[in-house]
Amino acid sequence: MILPAVFFPLERAENLHDGYLKTFVAGGEDVVLMQQGGVPAILEGICPHAGHPFSHSRIVGSDIRCDMHGYRFDLRTGACTFYTEGPIRGLRVFPHEIRDGFIGVVL
Ligand code: FES
Repeated sequence: MILPAVFFPLERAENLHDGYLKTFVAGGEDVVLMQQGGVPAILEGICPHAGHPFSHSRIVGSDIRCDMHGYRFDLRTGACTFYTEGPIRGLRVFPHEIRDGFIGVVL
């Protein structure tokens, strides 16, 4: 059985700006909402390298850089673009929408 997608509002769209980065739990998923180059993105919120949350990470260029060991992931594709202790899978990228002035994730 396929469940219908659900919209989880995360942040007022007007609060987004380049460099914005904040983690949330939505529908049981840890996600990170970011914006760079005027384009928002929502990816999984826990680093797949060693399970560190992205809550204190930052955006570097077009990547999110994990503050634990410096792994970097492309904001658009989730692909790992830099690693320090060996290659790793990319991050899941979640669809997002803006509804009633809020940006949210669709799960
Ligand atoms: S836990 Fe993120 S780089 Fe190691």
